[in-house]
Amino acid sequence: MKNLVVFASGSGSNFQSIIDAVTNGNLNARITGLIANKYNIGAITKAEANDIPVRVLSDIDFDLYSDYENVLLTQLRSWKADIVILAGYLRKIPGAVISEYEGKILNIHPSLLPKYGGKGFYGIKVHKAVIEAGDTESGCTIHIVSEEYDKGPILAQQKVSVLPNDTPEDLAARVLVQEHLLYPKIIANYINTLTN
Ligand code: GRF
Repeated sequence: MKNLVVFASGSGSNFQSIIDAVTNGNLNARITGLIANKYNIGAITKAEANDIPVRVLSDIDFDLYSDYENVLLTQLRSWKADIVILAGYLRKIPGAVISEYEGKILNIHPSLLPKYGGKGFYGIKVHKAVIEAGDTESGCTIHIVSEEYDKGPILAQQKVSVLPNDTPEDLAARVLVQEHLLYPKIIANYINTLTN
């Protein structure tokens, strides 16, 4: 069985959908830890409620970026992470982590990448941009993380309609419903393709 370590910065609703999939037997994996980059976030409450160990680590708390990278890698090794799941994690993943877990870091993004991806496109800003552009569809994307922000190989996408009077919040909520369905399913499939 594979060990998952989840990274989150926010409410952790995707994290919860992964916890639920593990609990229901739809995702054959163990969640061995949560990395958060700040205290007092919903994701930490959810980890605690499910007896999942938490480590709060932010690069801004370290004088040297290399110290941050090393502490993060040591934590991932000690949790025996086989795969890293980014679930609303708002800081860049250090290069050393990407190389050590090459092909084993997944991310979910709330748009149909490559549209509305890259620096500055996160959270509600993504949905605002979609509405301002007048797009009639949006959705979410699950991809493998590479060095370039939101650019790694795409594993799956789910489209949703953008309705005429949608606010960014309406659209975010509609996309999030699909995120919760898609992410655990794609993680489960992806794990099955890993040979080590
Ligand atoms: C989601 O919309 C996800 O696509 C993005 O960040 C958001 C996280 O939401 N990367 P939550 O914390 O899982 O509720």
